[in-house]
Amino acid sequence: MRLHELILEAKNRLTQAKVSFGHGTDNAHDEASWLVLWSLGLKLDTDTTAQNFELTQSQIERALALIEQRITKRTPSAYLTGEAWLQGIPFFVDQRSIIPRSLIAECLVNSSIDPWLNIHTSRVLDLCTGNASLAIICAMVFPEVEIDALDISIQALEVAHINVERHMLGKRIRVKASDGLEHANGPYDLILCNPPYVNSLSMQTLPPEFKAEPALSLDGGADGMDFIRKFLNDAPSHLSDIGVIVLEVGHERDHFENAFSHLECIWLETSAGEDQVVLITQNALDNFLAHSYP
Ligand SMILES: C[S@@+](CC[C@H](N)C(=O)[O-])C[C@H]1O[C@@H](n2cnc3c(N)ncnc32)[C@H](O)[C@@H]1O
Repeated sequence: MRLHELILEAKNRLTQAKVSFGHGTDNAHDEASWLVLWSLGLKLDTDTTAQNFELTQSQIERALALIEQRITKRTPSAYLTGEAWLQGIPFFVDQRSIIPRSLIAECLVNSSIDPWLNIHTSRVLDLCTGNASLAIICAMVFPEVEIDALDISIQALEVAHINVERHMLGKRIRVKASDGLEHANGPYDLILCNPPYVNSLSMQTLPPEFKAEPALSLDGGADGMDFIRKFLNDAPSHLSDIGVIVLEVGHERDHFENAFSHLECIWLETSAGEDQVVLITQNALDNFLAHSYP
C-alpha cells in the first residue's frame, strides 16, 4: 500500500464512522492526512503525491490503529497527537485544556483590531487563557506588549506554561491562576477573552469529541452568558482609558444581544462570519453600565 492509498483508506473509515470535526480540520481527508502523516513521523505539510512511497506492514498497522482509536474513543486528533496548530503556530495540548481554535487569533493576525490600538498599547490581558495560544500569538504579533495570562483551571495553566516555555516567551507572558478578574493586575490596554460561552441546551447535544474537552472551558450556563455577565460588569476598573475588549461569543450572538441589548458593539469579521467576535471599547462599556445601573 502506498501513502496516498493509506490516506484514502483512513479517510473512508473516518467518513463511514461519522466522526465529528472542528478541532483543527473540518473534513475527513485533512483529518486522515494529519493522523497518517503523524503516525509515520512525517511533517504535516508533506506533499503526499510527491512522497508516494510503498509503506511497510508495520507502518500501515500503526496508522490504522490510530484511526481506530480516533473512531472508537472519539478522541480529537489533537489529543491523540499532543499537538494543535493555530495560525501556523504549533501548540502542545492534552486533555487538561481545550484545543486551540479561537477566532480571536485571526483578528490578531489579520490586523482587524489594530484601528483600536495605538503606540501606547502596552499591557494586555488574555483572560481564560487555557493553553495560552492567544497570549502567545498576541506576543508574536505585538513584540512590544507584556501579557498577563489568567485562568481558573490549574490543569489548563500547566499546559499554558508548557507552551509559553516552548515559544520562549516567559519574559513577556505571566501565567497566573485567577477566577475571572479576581487576580488581574491592570489597568490593561487590551483584554482578549475566549470564555466558556456554550449554552446549557447546546452543551447537552455536543458531539463526543467536544465532550472530551474540559466542560469548564465550554459551559457558559443557561444562556451561555454566566461568565461574560460577571466579566463585563467587573471589567471597567481593569481597563485603561484607551482600553478595549475583544471577546469571542461563538454561536451565541443572539443570547449576547439579549443580555447586553444597550451595549454598543463592534462585530469583527472572521472566517466564520461577522457574529462571533465582538470588540467593546472602555467608553461603550462605561455607558452601558451607567445605563444599566443609573
Ligand atoms: C474556551 S476556553 C479558551 C481557552 C483558550 N483561550 C483558547 O482560546 O484556546 C475557556 C477557558 O476559560 C477558563 N475558565 C472557565 N471559567 C473561568 C473563570 N471563572 N475564570 C477564569 N478562567 C475560567 C477555562 O478553564 C478555559 O481554559
